[in-house]
Amino acid sequence: MAQTMKAVRGTRDLLPLETELWNRIEAIARQVFARYNFGEIRTPIFEDTGLFARSVGEETDIVSKEMYTWSDGERFNEQRIIEEWKKANETDDPAHTQAGRINVQGNPKFLAKLNELGVQLQVWRGVQVRPNLLSGYVELVSFRPGVSADAIDRLTRARELAKSDPESQIQHFAVRLRLVIPMEGDLGAWIDKKDVIVEPLAGRFFDSAQSLTLRPENTAGVVRAYIEHGLGESGQLQKLYYIGPQFRRERPQKGRYRQFWQIGAEVIGPPSSGSESALRDAEVLEMLATLLQELKIEGWTLELNSVGSAADRAKYNDVLRAALVDVAAKMCGDCQRRAVTNPLRVLDCKVPEDQPIIEKLPKIGDSLGQDSKDHFAQVTAALDAAGVPYKLNQRLVRGLDYYTRTTFEFTHGGLGAQNALLGGGRYDGLSEAIGGPKAPGIGFAIGLDRLVLTLQAQKSTVLETITVETKSDVFIAPVGKAQNPSALALARDLRNSGLRVELGDGAFRLSKSFEFGDKLARSIVLLGEDELAASILTVKNFMMRVQKKIPYGGLRSQPETSSAQESIERQINVFTQWLQLVAALTTDWTVENIPRPGHGLYDYHWRVISGEPPKILDYISLDKEDIGLSDEKRREILGRRFIALTKGKQVPV
Ligand code: HAM
Repeated sequence: MAQTMKAVRGTRDLLPLETELWNRIEAIARQVFARYNFGEIRTPIFEDTGLFARSVGEETDIVSKEMYTWSDGERFNEQRIIEEWKKANETDDPAHTQAGRINVQGNPKFLAKLNELGVQLQVWRGVQVRPNLLSGYVELVSFRPGVSADAIDRLTRARELAKSDPESQIQHFAVRLRLVIPMEGDLGAWIDKKDVIVEPLAGRFFDSAQSLTLRPENTAGVVRAYIEHGLGESGQLQKLYYIGPQFRRERPQKGRYRQFWQIGAEVIGPPSSGSESALRDAEVLEMLATLLQELKIEGWTLELNSVGSAADRAKYNDVLRAALVDVAAKMCGDCQRRAVTNPLRVLDCKVPEDQPIIEKLPKIGDSLGQDSKDHFAQVTAALDAAGVPYKLNQRLVRGLDYYTRTTFEFTHGGLGAQNALLGGGRYDGLSEAIGGPKAPGIGFAIGLDRLVLTLQAQKSTVLETITVETKSDVFIAPVGKAQNPSALALARDLRNSGLRVELGDGAFRLSKSFEFGDKLARSIVLLGEDELAASILTVKNFMMRVQKKIPYGGLRSQPETSSAQESIERQINVFTQWLQLVAALTTDWTVENIPRPGHGLYDYHWRVISGEPPKILDYISLDKEDIGLSDEKRREILGRRFIALTKGKQVPV
């Protein structure tokens, strides 16, 4: 038996029930972003490796160890080698081929066949027979990145074709074969070249390889796009959000994957747009608090810090490096290395024995210049005013090099070791670092996988509503195979009106249809031969435990009506049946058409009745214009309106 294949370590599949929750979360996030006037941006999943090296930073863990990077193979430039070869061989006398030189020839129709075989040229090559007599022969020439058995084989086949195909017009000529490859191409030492002449040509015929990387994060890509499309030229603040997968080759564990998802946002613009203002920082943080609140995530902590300007950071790095000289020897191996390469990273250390030492190291707050201090004070003042709680954490320096001034993380106790639900901060110099104009910015990224874990741990109400909706509204059960086509027609009608429909199969026994129907849907419609003949559907509502026969002519093509009045009556009838069917499927209501009361804005009326003794729940009214709509259109508009009404009053499963 063939070995079974599994998802790659650190990646996983999300199946329908879980994706339902993901979609909900994403929908809520999109709604919140819309209220803050953010627009969506989608950048490619891979970028030039240099982008990440220059933004996230070469010394960071992400860039130095965790990226999926590959060289996007050197590309053979076929056009260039053909041009160069022709230049070197073609005669400048088009009428007469000089000895050893070529004329490019061939019947275009036959050339197309040659091209299909990977043979690009047919040439006439001159041979000096006697001092005054020039003769020649035909050469078929193929240009390839290297010698391969395939290339030899195709050239040989091309010659066979030239000899046999009248369109070649060279059936009676001597035909030689030539394979031109770049000098540095594979000479195919072990390949039988038969009688093919192999000609290595000097020159550059490979376009150099590009180093590409699966994005480990999306801020770099967004800022690259901001620069590439000149988004700053509008003079306005750009507010962009994204939802998508990111890739880091980390050790997988709970809440840490190699392909994970982020919901993120960036606020960026020229300084004149207000992009540097502390109010932007506070607004972004306030938006996050609102988003978490709407997602019903409880118990988060906002940890906040300022890492200062680039100059402040450099100063602190020196202070820290000096302070570490005496104590590094007592710390873990990682810290000893970091003390030299990237002292700031020491603050991320989680080794318990190192903590007392780290606590005594100089604090970044003491290295901040007055500007940075003022900026940070404005951020916290605005958060205080808006009532967003936070905790100052001077060790929060974050694992990416582009940060300046405000940095933050929202942590959650329910997540275990990987407790950062989201992280972000300001990056005032990032645009310039990747060749763009000055464009200060601030943003964040939420770990969507971790958000889901938190919600699942919380048994959130968002989750509960999802279990309810796993059931369809109706299961349509054709009683025999002959009813399958009508079943599809009914399913199409109901689905067009917004109902969620599961379609059974006439091959199922009735007991199986009922078993499936009960499991998958709130109600079942039986569609048998008799039902179709009598235009009556049998509807069983599992929730209400009632079975009803509903007259329903909707499955039959309607006879052409003679008068306008008859047509309206028929349409009222169709619509009444339609309402009755939907009511029976989803509720215990009945619906009846009532005569025109003689006043009011509308022309036609129905009432919705429920219970014993019957009580009127609601009225439905239509305009003349509405009733004149095509069946399909009417069902779409009115069916949906009615269904929305029934959904609002449905009994939960
Ligand atoms: P980050 O802190 O590297 O920041 O990632 C943000 C969030 O992504 C983390 O807090 C975590 O929830 C989630 N995350 C990171 N790695 C993994 C993983 N291996 N598995 C699961 N979830 C993970 C950034 O990516 C910055 N681009 C954020 C930002 C935007 N800063 C400014 N703008």
